[in-house]
Amino acid sequence: MPIYLDNAATSFPKPESVYAAIDHANRQLAVAAGRGRYQRANDADRMLSLARQAAAHLIGAETTQISFAFSGSDALSTAILGYLKPGDHAIASAADHTSVLRPLWHLEQNHQLELTVVDCDENGFIDSNEIKSAIKPNTKMVCLTHASNVTGVIQPTEDVGEFCKANEIAFLLDAAQTIGHLKFDFRSIDFDFLAAPGHKSLLGPLGTGFLLATDKVAEHCDPLRFGGTGSTGNEFNQPTTCPQKFESGNLNLPGIAGLLAGIQWLATDEAIANSDRTNNLTRQLATQLSEIEHVTVYGLEHIQTPTVSFNIAGTDCQTVGMLLDSQFEIECRTGLHCAPLIHKKIGSAEFGGTVRFSPGVFTTEDEIDQAIAAVQTIAREMGAAIQ
Ligand SMILES: Cc1ncc(COP(=O)(O)O)c(C=O)c1O
Repeated sequence: MPIYLDNAATSFPKPESVYAAIDHANRQLAVAAGRGRYQRANDADRMLSLARQAAAHLIGAETTQISFAFSGSDALSTAILGYLKPGDHAIASAADHTSVLRPLWHLEQNHQLELTVVDCDENGFIDSNEIKSAIKPNTKMVCLTHASNVTGVIQPTEDVGEFCKANEIAFLLDAAQTIGHLKFDFRSIDFDFLAAPGHKSLLGPLGTGFLLATDKVAEHCDPLRFGGTGSTGNEFNQPTTCPQKFESGNLNLPGIAGLLAGIQWLATDEAIANSDRTNNLTRQLATQLSEIEHVTVYGLEHIQTPTVSFNIAGTDCQTVGMLLDSQFEIECRTGLHCAPLIHKKIGSAEFGGTVRFSPGVFTTEDEIDQAIAAVQTIAREMGAAIQ
């Protein structure tokens, strides 16, 4: 089996209970939830309620504020394209992912939005004062990625959330790289929208995610999709209450069953032990990579999530990625990681981005040792070529 170090993109493998829940749902439960009066439709609906409760509990939200989505990008687009209106101003950052930036750029290009993108520093960190000084009378939304998916640095979300609340600006938190990591307390952050993929550290399957929208902002957020919701079928208009407002069509029931099992797994002793191990392995990985001659680790002192980005002098990141795969059977991500603006600031643009190792809850010490040894070998060979 190859060594999988691309968990920041999507977690793999999943806990056994997740595979079992998906299989069970596909065989026993995958019917139109909440749309019929037969027992199985009720059972499916009950499972959806449990998954919604589990997601809400993670972030201290109300169950009705959680709408299922197909991915983090889907949830982000719903919030950004649904909430912002012509003439509004929004603020994002150079550390943001394209799933935040592209919907914003789309609105800006269509002359519907005034956009400010604040810079980050050489570690990918955003100074909250930069955000505060960018606000204008028409600022309606601040978007911030909780943790950079390139450097693993944590942004000042508490401060930004407090500021947005005081100024009645909607705060959209992109929790793609933090949701499911046990060390983050979402209850301490004042967000209005939170976008979460279900398939990363929540350990659900691809095709899952959710959007949290507080009542205050949900009321002013238009749906992206329209259609059947299993409720108010005699009305022409889309329901105005959540979650039906944002959930048109049959839901991804097997996927959500897997997501529920993933969230439930996070409460087990195994999850707590594995999560501690992942954090320790990440520190070991970052430190030992940084000690290799010709290797630069980005944001070394600031890594807070299992995300270690690096480059080898004189070599573009894609070449390193291909060598890791072809010679060492190590699967990792290379390139811009859908965060196109951060690389100029952290110094990785000349390499075409970074090589990113992202361990997961099932990554072992032996796999990390092998990854470090592989980089040592490549760096030695590349280093010899430079000299
Ligand atoms: C910071 C960040 N935001 C958003 C996303 C988008 O998530 P998804 O792949 O579920 O659309 C990602 C995925 O890599 C991410 O890292």
